[in-house]
Amino acid sequence: MRDLDSFEQNSHQDLKFLFVVDINYFYKIMNICCIGAGYVGGPTMAVIAKKNPSIEVTVVDINAERIAQWNSDVLPVFEPGLDEIVKSVRDKNLFFSTKIDEAILKADIIFVSVNTPTKTYGVGAGRAADLKFVELCARRIASVVDQGKKIIVEKSTIPVRTAESIKAVLAANSSGAEFQVLSNPEFLAEGTAIADLENPDRILIGGDTTPEGKAAVETIVSIYEKWVSRDRILTTNLWSSELSKLVANAFLAQRISSINSISALCEATEAEVDEVALAVGRDSRIGPKFLKASVGFGGSCFQKDLLNLVYLSEHFGLPEVAEYWDQVIKMNDWQKKRYGQKIIQSLFNTVFDKKIAILGFAFKKDTNDTRESAAIYICKDLLEEQAQLSIYDPKVEGEQVIEALGLQEDEGNLLGVSVVNDPYEAAKDAHAIAILTEWDEFKALDFQRLYDNMVKPAFVFDGRNLLDINRLRKIGFEAYGIGK
Ligand code: UDX
Ligand code: ADP
Repeated sequence: MRDLDSFEQNSHQDLKFLFVVDINYFYKIMNICCIGAGYVGGPTMAVIAKKNPSIEVTVVDINAERIAQWNSDVLPVFEPGLDEIVKSVRDKNLFFSTKIDEAILKADIIFVSVNTPTKTYGVGAGRAADLKFVELCARRIASVVDQGKKIIVEKSTIPVRTAESIKAVLAANSSGAEFQVLSNPEFLAEGTAIADLENPDRILIGGDTTPEGKAAVETIVSIYEKWVSRDRILTTNLWSSELSKLVANAFLAQRISSINSISALCEATEAEVDEVALAVGRDSRIGPKFLKASVGFGGSCFQKDLLNLVYLSEHFGLPEVAEYWDQVIKMNDWQKKRYGQKIIQSLFNTVFDKKIAILGFAFKKDTNDTRESAAIYICKDLLEEQAQLSIYDPKVEGEQVIEALGLQEDEGNLLGVSVVNDPYEAAKDAHAIAILTEWDEFKALDFQRLYDNMVKPAFVFDGRNLLDINRLRKIGFEAYGIGK
């Protein structure tokens, strides 16, 4: 039996459902545990808790500092709207804890939302996803649970057929418990996570096609049905669900690499990439989204998922498929490199000892995440040429910038990296400003004031096509966008 609340609210669907799924396989949902309190686990569980007041949700992590932050006034993840939701449900039906085993034991459903970075060692290094954290979770669950039924849900981005490994680990290590392993990939984008969670294009749930598998899938459906209409909840087999996540990210990344390749062609001709994107995107078969030329895509997902897809294709003996998707990454790498080179060439082929203001370090606006940010690569290239960088980002802390650049704290000073709290300070006495993240606040900067305090000729490199280049030129700047 499920809790009465959800039974009453969904009685029509539940009745329909009872005819197709054996009542014995019905799961009682009272308690959810999510392993991993990161960018995905935290926001997703906050929204699930808010929409399901009768379910108790506990988010656990091995990182005690992170858990303490989730329990404090300053959350470890910056996302518009997240603070309000967390405050409204925290310590009511949403809990953050380091007591992992306790939460696993109590839970009917366990979401696994740990990090799956690209492997840095051994077979598949640089391409395959490192599943050691996922496997550790499966082993921990197996060691703690020895009776009853539990649903394990993969939320982390993972390669296809990971569920199989989780199942094998659970089966070999647990005595007496029954597990159903499902895939429920997350499609939220950082910076708009709460809006994406509250109003998703679709929810995808994959599971076994056995009666037990179907019942488990319907249990997860019932959680989302509290706020998402049934026609937006897709249920598939496990492998389709796992693969769809990789493919969705690969298609999105491909669009960006496509428009970025055209940005280079625009620079060589008289075409303007934003005009081309507008004209192309008006074709309803193509659509206007994800056609913004940039310094290159970043974030924890795109590159990792593309690499994964390449690795999988090779593994299954499909080198042509692997090569096709590999090109999307190569184009992105080239765009990042190209942008750094453009800055160096424009500054008379040397940035030695020149101060350059870097505005924006996060991989996109409205997040404090810097994973795979294009800014990291561009800054490193400029540092190699011995530029002096003064970096400002509205949400990224200095320590995080230094770490992302692979520097020690004191090394930063030695190499000429300073992280400042004010964009005007960053640009003071600088030769150039490089906009690397599209933060809205950069549009409102007083560019006359910035210009007056810079070395002349003063340059702006707008790596996000955020600013009015002609207005900057009128002030006196040597101004460059992307693809124009
Ligand atoms: C992505 C997917 O969008 C999301 O569905 C999935 O769950 C996780 O991966 P995310 O990486 O958070 O989300 O952000 P996204 O908005 O996709 O942006 C990724 C990168 O592409 C950013 O660096 C962004 O600046 C860049 N981008 C995006 C462009 O350069 N141009 C565009 O038109 C869109
Ligand atoms: P994502 O963007 O996928 O959410 P994050 O790196 O932000 O990735 O979050 C993943 C979280 O998972 C981290 O806080 C990390 O400490 C946690 N984690 C990793 N392995 C385990 C584990 N075995 N048990 C509990 N938490 C884990």
